[in-house]
Amino acid sequence: MSLKIKQIDYSETPAVSEIPDIRNTDDDCALYVGDNLSVMNQLSGFLSGSVNFCYIDPPYNTGSKFIYNDRRYSTNDPVWGSHFAWMEFMRPRLELAKTLLADDGIIAVSIDDYEQPYLRILLDQIFGETNFISCITTCRSNNGKGARGNIATNHEYIVVYSKSKSAKVRGLPDLDLESYNKFDEHGEYRIDGLFRKKGDASLRTDRPNMFYPLYFDDLGRVFTENVIPGLKEVYPVDSQGIERRWLWGKDKATAESWKLYSSPKGVVYVKNYFDRSKRIKPKSLWVDNRYLTERATNQIKEIFGSKVFETPKPVELLEDLIDSHTSENALILDFFAGTGTTAHAAFNLNKKDNGNRKTILVEQDAAIDPSHVAYENGFRVISDITQRRLDWLVKVHKFKYIRA
Ligand SMILES: C[S@@+](CC[C@H](N)C(=O)[O-])C[C@H]1O[C@@H](n2cnc3c(N)ncnc32)[C@H](O)[C@@H]1O
Repeated sequence: MSLKIKQIDYSETPAVSEIPDIRNTDDDCALYVGDNLSVMNQLSGFLSGSVNFCYIDPPYNTGSKFIYNDRRYSTNDPVWGSHFAWMEFMRPRLELAKTLLADDGIIAVSIDDYEQPYLRILLDQIFGETNFISCITTCRSNNGKGARGNIATNHEYIVVYSKSKSAKVRGLPDLDLESYNKFDEHGEYRIDGLFRKKGDASLRTDRPNMFYPLYFDDLGRVFTENVIPGLKEVYPVDSQGIERRWLWGKDKATAESWKLYSSPKGVVYVKNYFDRSKRIKPKSLWVDNRYLTERATNQIKEIFGSKVFETPKPVELLEDLIDSHTSENALILDFFAGTGTTAHAAFNLNKKDNGNRKTILVEQDAAIDPSHVAYENGFRVISDITQRRLDWLVKVHKFKYIRA
């Protein structure tokens, strides 16, 4: 199958007006090759304020010998010690990311313990402390291989900030269908919300018009009038005998009495119906076998034939992150693209929910050391690896991308 790559002459850095803008094409992804600082500078010429979600997985500064440089230590900076060099590398890139983000945009950054506090300081300074959303902890391995000291560290973080208060975390789909264990003509539902008001302003005296009798039968049906023989009456009185109030006034309860359910003892609940579009708040601790690094490594072996990249992220982790943090039409940016997992995840989500997410990837064309397994597999610069995954997506699925 032929690859749908539009050819561009890269012999010279194109002027801003010549850089392809994915928003005007039907492509799923644009791959920009080069140092992300200069690429983002160029992108800011036409994309400022347009990116809805930015995910990055920068070098963690582990000092390991990876395919990319992962050692940026400074000596004895009076304030930041050895972390200064990494912070100075990240600072202008994060500033540009902020420029590219829409006002309600969100940035999520993967990191581990070593630079996490310094990243937080940078993000506090650039995005503002009040725009901190969360520091998600993900379990990346079951064993904590290669850990220093006596603790087998098996987690890392995704630090999330917004550009402004107008940002909204979309939430995850509620997949707990099993808990909706009851069914009626309106659908699956569960019983988990008391119809008697609790807590503040729950007394009869607070809302006298919400204190009225309800009637229920042995089937759990609830009525606002005593319409058939044999109904039992119940008032919103708690176990201490205190007169409280219902959640709704009588008119609404009459119109929507089919949403009410009574236990045999007359405890009235509002049915909680399953709703496919309903979203639940993501939690800050993410533990799932789908998020393990070994899973990402297997995906890399499947796509590339061998482990050509040491630090990929699992595609499912990115799917859940994107799905929970931004809309199905989001423009997504990853300027430390690596193997291109972010574009793959956004594409998978589009297939699942018919979305129109588009991803901008940036990856450097740094030379690969001849001793590296990727070199043995024919890759010469790192962005070749990103491009190979995109080509694989073109071949296996109907993925479309542009390269600049
Ligand atoms: C930790 S990896 C990202 C892995 C990616 N999340 C994945 O799932 O494959 C970091 C990537 O950032 C790239 N990178 C580092 N410095 C860069 C720069 N200045 N400009 C562009 N890319 C850079 C590295 O080459 C590497 O591929």
